Amino acid sequence: MSVFHGKKVLIGVTAGIAAYKTANLVRLFIKSGAEVQVIMTPASKDFVTPLTLSTLSKNPVHSTFYDQEDENELWNNHVELGLWADFMLIAPATANTLSKMTNGACDNLLLATYLSAKCPVYFAPAMDLDMYKHPSTLDSLNKLQEFGNIMIPATSGELASGLVGQGRMAEPEDILSFIEKDIYYKLPLRSKRILITAGPTYEAIDPVRFIGNHSSGKMGFELAHTAATLGAKVFLVAGPSAQKVQHSAIERIDVRSAEEMYQACHEYYASVDVAILSAAVADYRPKNVADQKIKKKDVSLTIELEPTKDILKSLGEAKEHQLLVGFALETNNEIANAEAKIRKKNLDLIVLNSLRDKGAGFATDTNKITIIDADFEQTSFELKSKREVSVDIVNEIIQKLDA
Ligand code: CTP
Repeated sequence: MSVFHGKKVLIGVTAGIAAYKTANLVRLFIKSGAEVQVIMTPASKDFVTPLTLSTLSKNPVHSTFYDQEDENELWNNHVELGLWADFMLIAPATANTLSKMTNGACDNLLLATYLSAKCPVYFAPAMDLDMYKHPSTLDSLNKLQEFGNIMIPATSGELASGLVGQGRMAEPEDILSFIEKDIYYKLPLRSKRILITAGPTYEAIDPVRFIGNHSSGKMGFELAHTAATLGAKVFLVAGPSAQKVQHSAIERIDVRSAEEMYQACHEYYASVDVAILSAAVADYRPKNVADQKIKKKDVSLTIELEPTKDILKSLGEAKEHQLLVGFALETNNEIANAEAKIRKKNLDLIVLNSLRDKGAGFATDTNKITIIDADFEQTSFELKSKREVSVDIVNEIIQKLDA
């Protein structure tokens, strides 16, 4: 999946001939799953029409501080636009706009939004070669980068004037790939490999029956998704679950029993940086699995159970460089029990759910957790959706990796 999937992209268009390429830029962002809003300077409308950009972006185009055509004259809130965006891209960025950005001028909506934006701002200069080389332009380009803005340099080639030199706006495909690499490079889990277990295990009684539990796998799948969007390569060892993987950086390894999960985890463990064990693994399995379906009889049936392997404990014993995270679901003496598990299983973090908290546990869409580290430092969180909980857990892991 593209890093732009679900990203909110604010594109600023200024008055250069390269504005005709912005239509394709908008189209490419939409195709890669981004949400796009466009702001145009008034003069840029001579180069590309707002209708083209609003059709391609599937959103109204903003150009003035209020919509003159709208009888309610609704104010276009530049602060809100700036806060909405995950990043802003000014393409093409003319010498005039670059100079105004450098000096804090804000005589149009695009500049006011730029000044209010807290998100990363990329700009793709486009102008004739002598304008590009002019000391005042070079000064603007330097200062804007010193302010933290990110320049996508102009390329060389034939310009609208017929002259040949540097000043052509980068091609839309190259702009996307530039930003993609920049975002990826800054992702906190870039080049990290993470093993995650999720879901229940099924322990066979006979060819048609098993012992299982109500785990949906949602918490583990959310953790996998969050880690993948932050740049990790995820190996998701999943027991039987209806959940779907929604990111190309997640490799799903389907297993059924605790023994299969154990084998899969040990296969990947040596090569990962982090292991998060959120699966609800069966603690016991039938000692003997019948070859044939067990026939009903008029007497009671006893199935002898034997313990399964404790996967988390075995990974704690085999730990070398990995950061190991376990889960604990407790009903009483929660903190003391969780702390004992940290020691017993050689963990770096444990995520504690208390069944006494309403909305926590494995049969709900929400969870309420406390994270405890190996020094028994506790961080408690409010009841949240499992997606939000996964972000809290992954953020704690990132802090530990950086420490
Ligand atoms: N776990 C595991 N393998 C097992 C059982 C559990 O890897 N055979 C992992 C779970 O994925 C979870 C953690 O161990 O991360 C906690 O499991 P839990 O059932 O709370 O703890 P137990 O060790 O089973 O202890 P107890 O039953 O005494 O609470």
